[in-house]
Amino acid sequence: MLVKTKVNGEWRTADVWPGASLLYMLREHLGLPGSKNACEQGECGSCSVWLDGELVCSCLVLAAQAHEREVRTVEALATAEGLHPVQEAFVEAGAVQCGFCTPGLIVAVTDLLARDPHPSESSVREHLSGNVCRCTGYVKILDAVRLAADRMGESRA
Ligand code: FES
Ligand code: FES
Repeated sequence: MLVKTKVNGEWRTADVWPGASLLYMLREHLGLPGSKNACEQGECGSCSVWLDGELVCSCLVLAAQAHEREVRTVEALATAEGLHPVQEAFVEAGAVQCGFCTPGLIVAVTDLLARDPHPSESSVREHLSGNVCRCTGYVKILDAVRLAADRMGESRA
């Protein structure tokens, strides 16, 4: 079946199996491997993207459900000017080890800071509770969120 979706600002069409996930369409049909496939069961958040502005696990969404809708992926965050502040903060805080969880976390943190520029520690933990990291122990990830919030707050001031 043909699925037409606006992905990172550009209308794209893919000819997918009716049971294909949005994650599979992004990675295998549209050449966007940033969203990771770690569990394919909605448990780890590595595949997080925005669908019409809402954070979803793209492994749990059918590609067909994205027809005529708008998807934004981690690939949309960096620009020609450089990395997104959340990406920079993850690098600076040392919040990346194997990196497999990182795109999903970057998307989730960006989503959180867009809704709540100065989240409490408990809001951060709650918002990231669906993102599993096997490497870092989360301390550096929480450092990165604080750093990104401070930097983005400064640039808004
Ligand atoms: S791959 Fe989608 S939640 Fe783990
Ligand atoms: S850095 Fe390896 S899973 Fe998070």
